[in-house]
Amino acid sequence: MTKNTIGEALTLTLFGESHGTHIGAVLDGLAPGITVDEADIRHALDMRRPSGKISTKRRESDEFSIISGVYNGRTTGTPLCIIIKNENAQSRDYEYGPARPGHADYTAYMKYHGFEDFRGGGHFSGRVTAAIVAACAVVRAALKKKGITVGTHISSLCSIRDRGFINYEEDIELLYNRPFPTLMEEAEEQMRSAAERCADLGDSLGGVLETAATGIPAGVGEPFFGTVEGELARAIFSVPAVKGVTFGMGADFANVFGSEASDTMRYENGNVVFDKNNNGGVNGGITNGAPILFKTIVKPTPSIFKPQQTIDFVQKENIIHTVKGRHDPMIIHRARAVVDALTALTLADLLTVRYGDDYLYTE
Ligand SMILES: Cc1cc2nc3c(=O)[nH]c(=O)nc-3n(C[C@H](O)[C@H](O)[C@H](O)COP(=O)(O)O)c2cc1C
Repeated sequence: MTKNTIGEALTLTLFGESHGTHIGAVLDGLAPGITVDEADIRHALDMRRPSGKISTKRRESDEFSIISGVYNGRTTGTPLCIIIKNENAQSRDYEYGPARPGHADYTAYMKYHGFEDFRGGGHFSGRVTAAIVAACAVVRAALKKKGITVGTHISSLCSIRDRGFINYEEDIELLYNRPFPTLMEEAEEQMRSAAERCADLGDSLGGVLETAATGIPAGVGEPFFGTVEGELARAIFSVPAVKGVTFGMGADFANVFGSEASDTMRYENGNVVFDKNNNGGVNGGITNGAPILFKTIVKPTPSIFKPQQTIDFVQKENIIHTVKGRHDPMIIHRARAVVDALTALTLADLLTVRYGDDYLYTE
């Protein structure tokens, strides 16, 4: 079982803790010759950056260094390691023993026998996802040069809904520069004010993200144990606070007839086109050439500022505990950057498996 490494031909290994000196990631299997533009990395980190009342007050500059695998602005083909400084930790806010309900304090204690760095959630902190975002920005930019784009929006939050993708490529372009990623501006306003009201109450919110990826040729993926859905879900479930991933119509498949669920297809100028995309671009585990489309359910932030029943696993007693420290009242808009990153990585891996080690290289 892999622990902190994901991928087959193109792997990502993650390391670091919330309050350690650095977090970081190693990408191995990247084709040589890929242009690495630090502006792409900076942009991806900016999309994950907390801001305003709807985010944690922990503000990090996310200063990063690429310490290997790039020479003269191009990948060398050997492991690319990127590290990011942690500069704004306040470890005194964290007590060891009280288990935050819904967080990983108790499970980490059971797995690591008390040797875990618990400060700020340690290795389980959302902070560690900055390293995923930074490393995968290189992959996402390389995919774009191959005509493959990835984008995610907040599909729903409370009962506020954004519209779905209409013109996939235009919508993905629109989302690229939106730190609060909705396709409709009025959805952003309503979602933001719901989140602000919730933050005032010391509580938190979850929501649903929807991701699309365009330009993936038909025929990628494996039929049973290496399905495109399975590989993407594996990656997306590694994002802290993700509790569900569904493809295409997802849970709505349960409520429609086959005649409504299936995607009718025909030839148009020699190309196969689909009238709908209810299957999210995957049939039998293999891409069908339509955009890949899936939803990610993100739970409300577990650290809330209300007293809650829990345990102190050091003292072995029941307690009523109120969390201290700085926390995101909602995670979803920031998790979007991580979902984009891991989608790009997984697709690049699947494409590299199918087309060879140099797939991501373009002149
Ligand atoms: C970008 C991001 C930021 C997060 N910020 C917080 C936070 O401020 N406070 C918190 O309790 N959890 C936060 N989380 C979620 C926890 O890390 C997560 O719920 C916890 O590790 C338990 O994992 P699970 O929810 O997947 O079971 C964040 C997650 C992400 C992706």
